[in-house]
Amino acid sequence: MILKWILPSWIFLSSIPVLDLLNCSAFLASAVNPPYFTALLNVTVIHPNSSVSINLEHGRYGQESPKRAVTGLLLEPLPINGVTNRLGCDARTRFHIPPNITHWIALLERGNCTFRQKVLRAASQNVSAVVIYNNETHQDHVTMTHQGTGDIVTVMISQQKAKEILNYLEKNMTLLISIKVGSHFESKHFSHSSYFDRSSSLVFVAIPFIILALISSAWIIFYFIQKIRHKFAHDQNQLIEMSKEEGEVSLYDEYSA
Ligand SMILES: *[C@@H]1O[C@H](CO)[C@@H](O)[C@H](O)[C@H]1NC(C)=O
Ligand SMILES: *[C@@H]1O[C@H](CO)[C@@H](O)[C@H](O)[C@H]1NC(C)=O
Ligand SMILES: *[C@@H]1O[C@H](CO)[C@@H](O)[C@H](O)[C@H]1NC(C)=O
Ligand SMILES: *[C@@H]1O[C@H](CO)[C@@H](O)[C@H](O)[C@H]1NC(C)=O
Ligand SMILES: *[C@@H]1O[C@H](CO)[C@@H](O)[C@H](O)[C@H]1NC(C)=O
Ligand SMILES: *[C@@H]1O[C@H](CO)[C@@H](O)[C@H](O)[C@H]1NC(C)=O
Ligand SMILES: *[C@@H]1O[C@H](CO)[C@@H](O)[C@H](O)[C@H]1NC(C)=O
Repeated sequence: MILKWILPSWIFLSSIPVLDLLNCSAFLASAVNPPYFTALLNVTVIHPNSSVSINLEHGRYGQESPKRAVTGLLLEPLPINGVTNRLGCDARTRFHIPPNITHWIALLERGNCTFRQKVLRAASQNVSAVVIYNNETHQDHVTMTHQGTGDIVTVMISQQKAKEILNYLEKNMTLLISIKVGSHFESKHFSHSSYFDRSSSLVFVAIPFIILALISSAWIIFYFIQKIRHKFAHDQNQLIEMSKEEGEVSLYDEYSA
């Protein structure tokens, strides 16, 4: 009788093991912070008299980009019908590639079409790498995704740094950009360390789950105890009534048998 109520509740409770919840929150944490590589960028302005070097802050390699160093001439897209358009989405996007140049790198603005489309546009003109700058000020870098772009290196930089570079490009100066692999920021999701040797973000995600699990477990246990007590009392009442009707077997005898 009592087993009939206890068994289902145990099955229900064991279907929400705490480890599963931790796995789930670890997955969420890695979705928020996927692993990425920073890129060290250095732009050299080729000046008739002296070369100026612009030291850029760290950029970020795209997800599908090969993580390797590349150097080349930096080019922005030519205006389309006289209108400046650095999005690189338009089918008429062209670059003025000087003859005998083996490595050139495109500078494009984020927005209006996918990163993949931008990279493929430049790829049709044999680009070595694509540097995409953020389209909004004070926006953090994202890890760009652009499947199927082969061995083209992609890097995202901030809008502020792009403006510095564009100032020189607008003066028709020749710019050389060098991209190098910086540091690898790895999500700890795939590490084999213990659950508690993780980033604090994981702990922050996990805590609400654990609290929820505890509250719901407590509620379920309380609910079933009430059910069992109710059922037990009901059965006892029935027994009492039955023994009253029979008038012979006492309640004590029924339970000690
Ligand atoms: C940037 O590159 C130029 C030329 O390759 C080099 O002379 C300069 O030292 C570099 N600067 C930095 C900060 O790496
Ligand atoms: C380069 O230097 C020469 C003299 O050394 C000077 O006359 C000229 O204006 C300079 N050019 C630039 C672009 O600064
Ligand atoms: C390009 O390179 C070829 C041979 O490598 C040479 O003959 C030609 O003059 C070069 N053109 C320019 C514009 O430098
Ligand atoms: C910047 O690019 C993103 C992604 O394409 C887009 O959602 C957003 O509207 C763009 N913002 C501006 C100001 O163009
Ligand atoms: C953005 O893309 C749409 C088509 O998707 C195009 O009509 C529009 O001209 C583009 N805007 C710019 C600024 O290139
Ligand atoms: C790109 O490279 C290929 C092979 O190296 C060449 O045939 C093609 O003409 C190049 N395209 C452009 C736009 O330079
Ligand atoms: C840069 O070059 C383009 C074409 O080569 C020319 O139309 C433009 O006036 C030049 N700009 C400056 C600032 O020299």
